[in-house]
Amino acid sequence: MTDAHAASRGVGVVVVAAGSGSRLGADVPKAFVRLAGRPLVAHALEAVAGTGGVASVVVVVPVELLDPSGPHWSGVSLPPSATVVAGGADRTASVAAGLAALGPGCDVVLVHDAARCLTPVAVFERVVAAVRAGADGVVPGVAVVDTVKVVDTDGFVTATPERESLRAVQTPQGFRPEVLRAAHAGGVVATDDAGLVEALGHRVLVVEGDPLALKVTTPADLALAERLLAGGPTPSGGHL
Ligand code: C5P
Repeated sequence: MTDAHAASRGVGVVVVAAGSGSRLGADVPKAFVRLAGRPLVAHALEAVAGTGGVASVVVVVPVELLDPSGPHWSGVSLPPSATVVAGGADRTASVAAGLAALGPGCDVVLVHDAARCLTPVAVFERVVAAVRAGADGVVPGVAVVDTVKVVDTDGFVTATPERESLRAVQTPQGFRPEVLRAAHAGGVVATDDAGLVEALGHRVLVVEGDPLALKVTTPADLALAERLLAGGPTPSGGHL
C-alpha cells in the first residue's frame, strides 16, 4: 500500500434514518420509534460504533428532527465524529444528502438503514473487508427460503426465478467512495445503492448477511426485534 493510500484509510458511514415509516403506523418517524426504550437509530449507531476503523458518520434524519438535543433523540449516543443532516423525499435522496456531508479521506463508504437496527458488527466488518479486498460494491445477503414469482400488473406470473440463485439483500452496503458518488450523480432512484452501482456496470459482491439484519417495517417486525433483544444476541455479538 502506498503512503497516500494509507493516509486515506478509514470507513465513512451514512446511516439513513429519514423515512416516515408509514407501514409501522407509529406517530414518530420510524427510526425514532423506541425499541427496548431507545430509538431504532440508537441501536443501529451502537453497531456502527463497534465497527473497527470508522472515521466519520453521517446520520440522515427527517428535517423536523435535525436537533440532536430534542426529546426524540433521548437514548441516542452520537459518535464524536457524527454529523446530522436532513433527508430527502425518498431513500436515494437521503443517501445522496448523507454522501454530500461525508468528508473526504475514506477508502470505504457504508450505507446503512437505521431500520436494520440489530445488524451485528460482524456484518459491517465482512462488508468492509470485502471492499478492501477489491470489490467495487459489497452487499450482505441471505438465501431466500420462499419461491419467488415475478408478476405483471394484473397479478399473473411472468417468471419463476430459480431459487438457488436468489439472495435477499440487507445493509450495510459498502463501496469505494468514488464508485458510490458516481452512482448517485446520475439522479436515478433505486431501492438500494448497489442497484445504482450495478447500473453503471460495476460488479457487486454478495457476502453473508445475518437474519438479525432484518428491516423493521411492520409492527410484527418491531415485536420480533423486542423479543430478540430480550433474549437473543446483541448487535455486538454477545448475549444480554
Ligand atoms: O422505506 P424503507 O423502510 O425501505 O427505508 C429504509 C431506510 O431508509 C430506513 O432506515 C429509512 O429511515 C430510510 N429512509 C430515508 N429517507 C427516506 C426514506 C427512507 O432515510 N425518504
